Amino acid sequence: MAKQKLLSGIQATGKPHIGNYFGAMKQFVDMQDDHDALFMIADLHSLTTVKDPSVLRENILNVAIDYLAIGIDPNKAKIFRQSDVRSHTELTWVFNCLTSMPYLMRAHSFKDAEAKSKEVNIGLFDYPMLMAADILLYDPDIVPVGADQKQHLEFTRDTAEKFNNTYGETFKLPEDKILKSVGTIPGNDGRKMSKSYGNHLPLFASDEEIEKFTMSIVTDSKAPEDKKETEGDTLFRLHELFSSEDVLSEVRNGYENGGIGYGDAKKMLVESIKAFVAPLREKRAEIAKDKNHVLDVLDEGGKAADEIAEEKMRDVREKIGLNIS
Ligand code: TYM
Repeated sequence: MAKQKLLSGIQATGKPHIGNYFGAMKQFVDMQDDHDALFMIADLHSLTTVKDPSVLRENILNVAIDYLAIGIDPNKAKIFRQSDVRSHTELTWVFNCLTSMPYLMRAHSFKDAEAKSKEVNIGLFDYPMLMAADILLYDPDIVPVGADQKQHLEFTRDTAEKFNNTYGETFKLPEDKILKSVGTIPGNDGRKMSKSYGNHLPLFASDEEIEKFTMSIVTDSKAPEDKKETEGDTLFRLHELFSSEDVLSEVRNGYENGGIGYGDAKKMLVESIKAFVAPLREKRAEIAKDKNHVLDVLDEGGKAADEIAEEKMRDVREKIGLNIS
């Protein structure tokens, strides 16, 4: 049986954090063996916020290194840059002309930016259409993402349907793959982990960053002997992600029956995170030494992606009437 097709991506907005990792990137690695997989660096999406060319260049290269460091194998899956495939922006324009402004005004990303009185550029407003193009060009069966991308996948399916209804069957409707067991990873203030909240821990953090992040996790004021709630508790949630069975059951026991203070639980978490991050950090440093290899991986991935996308785009151009021969 043919393998299912999979596509996903992350933006090049800075260092990925553990929310990106557990919410999405870990699944990329787990799924690369039995899927036909494409992993994109969404560098054009990053342009909505990153305005410094040297920063963008560095971010793009860094995401490629991060992908390799977490274990994406370019012999199994393709890693490519969105900007290496021109069809993404071309198809976005086609979708723009099928989509109404009130529809896009429903996007959470737009509403959030407006609520914060940020200046919303057209790129940010149009973000979901570029994402729809990213996905639909490749006919993936599934798109593994974190819970916050659910609406973007709905927009993608709606856009595929709108196009298919207008011009005839062209795009496959993809399914999102959101791990219920993971959900949304909290930052150290209890809100969703996000760079824009400054409550995040970089995936390849230094020991000092790990200590600083963990020791500032917000807790209530219960004393060590008090019973504590595990459900919805950020500190406990992070133990679930990083700690061994033994450490986790010690912490659970201390929470449920009393006997563990938040300070001690934090110190234990620091050790668990350090043990998890250290080997990843070493592997990343090793990969970063060979920039040419990373560029080769992107080059090869870009060509492979472009071939698939261009074939789809030829069909689109014909369907919409841009092909006059
Ligand atoms: P980005 O770069 O913001 O996030 C990358 C992935 O990380 C997930 N994520 C989280 N998961 C759990 N808990 C959190 N606190 C958390 N924060 C982030 C995101 O859900 C995402 O899966 N729009 C995409 C990039 C993109 C894309 C695509 C993805 C562009 N085109 C096509 C899939 C297919 C994004 O915002 O990524």
